[in-house]
Amino acid sequence: MSLSGKIAVVTGGSRGIGRAICLRLAALGATVMVNYVSNPAAAEETVQSIRAAGGKAEPVQFNVAVAAEIEAAFKNILDAHGRVDILVNNAGITRDGLLMKMKEEQWDEVLNTNLKGVFLCTKAVSRAMMKQRWGRIINITSVIGFAGNAGQANYAAAKAGIVGFTKSVAKELASRGITVNGVAPGYIVTDMTRDLSEEVTDTIKAEIPLGVLGEPDDIAGAVAFLASDDARYVTGQFIHVNGGMFM
Ligand SMILES: NC(=O)c1ccc[n+]([C@@H]2O[C@H](COP(=O)([O-])OP(=O)(O)OC[C@H]3O[C@@H](n4cnc5c(N)ncnc54)[C@H](OP(=O)(O)O)[C@@H]3O)[C@@H](O)[C@H]2O)c1
Repeated sequence: MSLSGKIAVVTGGSRGIGRAICLRLAALGATVMVNYVSNPAAAEETVQSIRAAGGKAEPVQFNVAVAAEIEAAFKNILDAHGRVDILVNNAGITRDGLLMKMKEEQWDEVLNTNLKGVFLCTKAVSRAMMKQRWGRIINITSVIGFAGNAGQANYAAAKAGIVGFTKSVAKELASRGITVNGVAPGYIVTDMTRDLSEEVTDTIKAEIPLGVLGEPDDIAGAVAFLASDDARYVTGQFIHVNGGMFM
């Protein structure tokens, strides 16, 4: 599996799952644009790890919820590199709360980052990928988008929205050699889940047939497959990486 010569953009590549995806794509030979919104030090750490291993990477700051920032960033990337081959829509946030107490801002923040961000970034690369007649778009959804979760109506709605979006865009772009797929992680150890209490973690583990939380690298492997030529005949699909907690 080689991604040599490919230009990849990973949103939210500075930390967690996104960082593991950046490291994996770079190890396979891609030049990786490591996106972040507010944590330049974390993005720099990811970039330095890639360079230390002999790979190529650059930090790129933009907020996936802001169209003007995305347009400017993708213009710069296309001016500098001439193409974007792989887009991984990974950036995501949680603003949890029970429906009765959920504020409109909590809904808007999560929908804007987790769903509108996927739309805006996909739109921003689609023209270049169509011209190239080759592209890989990989959207990170969640087990919560398929199974639902009390206290995460906003997050579940955004992640389920990604499913319909992915299938629709897969149909629109297939004739141009672009595949659009998703990866649905279960519970993965990152900053997003690190603060869960031991009690909650034990309850979650009890629902996972494989008995442990996943690691960011478990998601990176699925993304790398979907980005590769081995997945050339796969589009509009989701790989569930969740230890069996949702089948
Ligand atoms: N962890 C899990 O158990 C789990 C399970 C299912 C799905 N997921 C999904 O996997 C993805 C990554 O999650 P994670 O656990 O790795 O999260 P994380 O450790 O909290 O990292 C989030 C990343 O997203 C970036 N980000 C947040 N808002 C952004 C914005 N508006 N524009 C650009 N970048 C932004 C952050 O950048 P900064 O460093 O600049 O803040 C950071 O790189 C998310 O879509 C999440 O919903 C995670």
